[in-house]
Amino acid sequence: MPNFQASSAVAAVQRHSLRPPFGPAPAGAVSVAIGEPDFDTPDPIVSAAVEALRSGATHYVDQHGDPELRSALADTVSALATHTYQPDQILVTHGATAALAAAIFAIVDNGDKVVIPEPCYSLYSDLVRLAGGAPVFVPPADDLHWDLDALRAALPGAKLVVFSNPCNPTGVVHSRNELHALASALRATDTLVLSDEAYSAIVYQDDVFPSAVSLEELRPRTIYCQTLSKSYAMTGWRLGYLAGPADVIAAAGLVHRSFNGSVNAAVQRAALAAVQHGTKLAEPMLAAYRERRDVLFDRLAGIAELSAPVPEGTFYAFARYDLPIASTELAAGLRGAGVLVRPGAEFGPSGEGHLRLSFAADIPVLHKAMDRISEYLYTTGVTVE
Ligand SMILES: Cc1ncc(COP(=O)(O)O)c(C=O)c1O
Repeated sequence: MPNFQASSAVAAVQRHSLRPPFGPAPAGAVSVAIGEPDFDTPDPIVSAAVEALRSGATHYVDQHGDPELRSALADTVSALATHTYQPDQILVTHGATAALAAAIFAIVDNGDKVVIPEPCYSLYSDLVRLAGGAPVFVPPADDLHWDLDALRAALPGAKLVVFSNPCNPTGVVHSRNELHALASALRATDTLVLSDEAYSAIVYQDDVFPSAVSLEELRPRTIYCQTLSKSYAMTGWRLGYLAGPADVIAAAGLVHRSFNGSVNAAVQRAALAAVQHGTKLAEPMLAAYRERRDVLFDRLAGIAELSAPVPEGTFYAFARYDLPIASTELAAGLRGAGVLVRPGAEFGPSGEGHLRLSFAADIPVLHKAMDRISEYLYTTGVTVE
């Protein structure tokens, strides 16, 4: 047997990764841990994929993406930004995962500082470490929005800032004012911004969602990351994209081409159908999430030791608890009691003392999960109203 030692980049991720190892779910467990819609992909998208396969979309395609899809995505981002994006400012990727990887590897050099407001999606810091960079976490304000003073203090010298808006795991939608403050703090610097807007179609407020590309002062330094996974219930299809300055996109394209090659031809044709139908395909799902969110919050109101701000977007509740137990241990205990949740510590140091509960599960599952959580907290000594 050769004596294998993982590369130092892999070892760094293994040492620091906040992602907990997950074993198989115990039989009969219910899950509010899931980060994906439980809906089927809408039919017009599935039909477009079948049609594409039957008509020969089974070959390699342009490594930056199917030209028609790139052009449609450029139009989509242009409408969002009220500013024209050209197709060479778009890179089609294997989901947002590969989009984030391509952007981070295109930008981050050994030792580069990357500012990451937390709690946040744990992939960001893993990717930064794989690329040799140094993630710098910035804790949030009490309401889980950005602590602007802490953010301003962390920014000098950063090569990149990465965040998700709406935020996984907190459900916060970062406002135009927060984004303005970020833009002002970055004025006259070369710091780039990677804005992961994976959940932008899942927002519950009436105001127009504030995409980073819609702010004129932020746009020139913004790499916009999007995916069809959450908005169109397409997690298994693996289709995402980046939009940004042409030179950054060309560099990200080189990374993506080296790691991934071209994206599945038929999936790109299906993505084109999704984009052409638009987010109206997602409206019934959004209505269901809203109803589930209300059910979950009704139930949370009955558990004295859990409290969460009502999410402005995403399908996550980030519930704070007041117990002398680490979130990984509490999640493990709940797992033993037949309910899967995500420990808050997975999302950064400030996530400790929280559980992430997903309401991308249907209402009977939510009730069962909340019954089990209540019962577990009760039997382990916590008062349930
Ligand atoms: C904030 C955020 N960005 C990106 C992703 C990855 O999405 P994809 O399925 O497109 O790789 C996820 C998945 O959970 C996510 O929560």
